[in-house]
Amino acid sequence: MINYKDLGLVNTREMFAKAVDGGYAIPAFNFNNLEQLQAIIQAAAETKSPVILQVSSGARKYANQTLLRYMAEGAVAYAKELGCAAPQIVLHLDHGDTFELCKSCIDMGFSSIMIDGSHHSYDDNVALTKKVVEYAHQFDVTVEGELGVLAGIEDDVVAEHHTYTKPEEVVDFVTKTGCDSLAISIGTSHGANKFTPAQCTRDENGKLVPPPLAFDILEAIEKELPGFPIVLHGASSVPEEEVETINKYGGALKDAIGIPEEQLRRAAKSAVCKINIDSDSRLAMTAAIRKTFAAYPAEFDPRKYLGPARENAKKLYVHKIINVLGSDNKL
Ligand code: G3H
Ligand code: 13P
Ligand code: ZN
Repeated sequence: MINYKDLGLVNTREMFAKAVDGGYAIPAFNFNNLEQLQAIIQAAAETKSPVILQVSSGARKYANQTLLRYMAEGAVAYAKELGCAAPQIVLHLDHGDTFELCKSCIDMGFSSIMIDGSHHSYDDNVALTKKVVEYAHQFDVTVEGELGVLAGIEDDVVAEHHTYTKPEEVVDFVTKTGCDSLAISIGTSHGANKFTPAQCTRDENGKLVPPPLAFDILEAIEKELPGFPIVLHGASSVPEEEVETINKYGGALKDAIGIPEEQLRRAAKSAVCKINIDSDSRLAMTAAIRKTFAAYPAEFDPRKYLGPARENAKKLYVHKIINVLGSDNKL
């Protein structure tokens, strides 16, 4: 049993309380490899932002859970080396789907866990989340639960339609499970194609405009659970310029569309205190790699294309922290 506190990591409790009070959100960036981790830590250290490092099931399969945990431990030392005397770094399991998986992460040093029972019946979701909370809290590990289903792809689960979170269920869910934060469904979704063109309108230039998030549901949830930490998944904004670069240099991304950043800024000022971003980092890295390959077709040193990818991802993280989430200078 390894406790995250011995690794220099923190849980989300205090971080979220401050974010809710201060009207900003903590960035939760997924990572699968060295370059993403370097970019995240450089961005967080430079902007003096707390940060959540997210490990999905896909990341565990790709990179190995043990290795990712050691990388997070190394990230604390790296942030200090970059001049951040007291970094606040959370190592979080993203979309945990079984008690055994959550336990395994807690036992090896994760400081925060998501148990996503949103695809189960309400009662089964409550039972599973409660079981994880009871185990996690023995070690002061914080737990994120989820109510409502996002449309889109979550690991191997594909949901075609949103099921918005029902505000009338949230108090019962939080009380029965004891979870520390709640992921909700108000119209965001995972991936780079969050909406079909048929779900969007077009502006005067023919650009797709997505339907707005259901802020009325968010407000109703806040009324039910004043000050309780709320989480938004599927919050990439799918930057147009990255999509254009990818397509210009041989990519084939069609109708890619995300959540407008003004809407995320508005959410960050409310009880939404954790915003999950993965796809935007993938787009930033892919755009830089495609551009590099086009300019230097004879290049075969991975550092020569992963370096620009890392730089572009870092630029994106800094932008999100300062201009969208508002978590800069909060250490
Ligand atoms: O919620 C999904 C995240 O973007 C992780 O995706 O399972 O492909 O790593 P992944
Ligand atoms: P995006 O696909 O919008 O980046 O969402 C990531 C996420 O919610 C990870 O849990
Ligand atoms: Zn998610």
